[in-house]
Amino acid sequence: MSSVVNKAGETNSVEKAFSAEDIRKDFPILHQQVNGHPLVYLDNAATTQKPQAVIDTLTTYYTQYNSNVHRGAHALSDRATVAFENARKTVAGFLNANKVEEVIWTRGTTEAINLVAYSWARHNLKAGDQLLVSWLEHHSNIVPWQMAAEASGAEVIGMPVTEAGDIDLAALKELLNPRVKLVALNHVSNALGTVNPLEDIIPLVKAETPAVVMVDGAQALAHYPVDVQKLACDFYAFSGHKLFGPTGIGALWGREDLLEAMPPWQGGGEMIERVSFAGTTFNTLPFKFEAGTPDIAGAIAQAAAIDYLQALDREAVIAHENELLAYSLELAQGFPRLHKIGTAKKVAAVFSFNLDGAHPADVGMLLDQQGVAVRTGHHCAQPIMERFGIPGTVRASYSIYNTRDDVKRLFSALEKVQGFL
Ligand SMILES: Cc1ncc(COP(=O)(O)O)c(C=O)c1O
Repeated sequence: MSSVVNKAGETNSVEKAFSAEDIRKDFPILHQQVNGHPLVYLDNAATTQKPQAVIDTLTTYYTQYNSNVHRGAHALSDRATVAFENARKTVAGFLNANKVEEVIWTRGTTEAINLVAYSWARHNLKAGDQLLVSWLEHHSNIVPWQMAAEASGAEVIGMPVTEAGDIDLAALKELLNPRVKLVALNHVSNALGTVNPLEDIIPLVKAETPAVVMVDGAQALAHYPVDVQKLACDFYAFSGHKLFGPTGIGALWGREDLLEAMPPWQGGGEMIERVSFAGTTFNTLPFKFEAGTPDIAGAIAQAAAIDYLQALDREAVIAHENELLAYSLELAQGFPRLHKIGTAKKVAAVFSFNLDGAHPADVGMLLDQQGVAVRTGHHCAQPIMERFGIPGTVRASYSIYNTRDDVKRLFSALEKVQGFL
């Protein structure tokens, strides 16, 4: 949305038509040659590129008001504190959190999940409890639960996935019982792009178990608007760098009553109310979980990234990315050796595939030589690779600034790859 002033001097808001070509202009990194070819960046599920507005926000912070937050008695510190806490409000609004205190800054999704696995899980789990974790998960949403289970004597059970790459709802129903204390699953799979129907799964879980639901939102927010209250999950984690923001920043959203009852997980400055050798009392939410100096610049720049995304027509973003996927499928028809991995009911902007007789790493290297950046391998999601009996895939993942021309470049580069292999 932007504003225009008409001849009568009235300001009107206008919906700007979505144009990936226009958006590209905001991302300086995209305009370069790689290995002698114009860069086609299709590794957005690993990390998205940053618009100039985010880069400028970082520069402004460091050139004009770099200072520590919450503790300074001077103007720069006040300015940094206001910007930092406003950034938290931006995240809370973006997720439709009930309260801003429910947003805890972390280094990213991995740290957010680990926070819950240490603070909530280790204090709420006991021997005999069950944790359901989907087979679609990134290792970040598996390993912390295995560690928490080991510490408590609870058991991690995999939630089966269908041949298409969807969570098997019938099998999930069979697993639900009162011993299930946690269900961990992603909103969107980074390996296959499967969009999990949380609006169906969460009510099912809540009806049959006392479990809290931990959603890994790392791959969702750059594509879909998310409302944590509507989803009725308990925890939602994300990484800023997959959402057009800097690396090193992300957040955990949690339900206030759960967060209030959880003990701190790291000790240090900022998370305390008062420290003495007779005992320490802890700060209130959200600071109780934010020990030490946070990534102040990162948080403020993350808010700028969210503002950038929110200014776009989100429905048009979804339509655009769906079109890139449909175009990929269309062009793939000319490649009999290409097998798409995952044919889930709803897929986000991920095109994961293999070429018969070719190792994904070789395909990736040959694409790179032609300026096309993809990710290859198991994508830190080995269980789902095991489920499909493959060592890995080639993954092209799309974003707001990718165009049909990028997809065409991928497939013409693949034609050459086929010739080589
Ligand atoms: C679904 C999913 N979860 C978690 C992560 C981990 O994110 P981070 O490394 O930013 O903590 C990723 C990163 O690829 C991911 O795709």
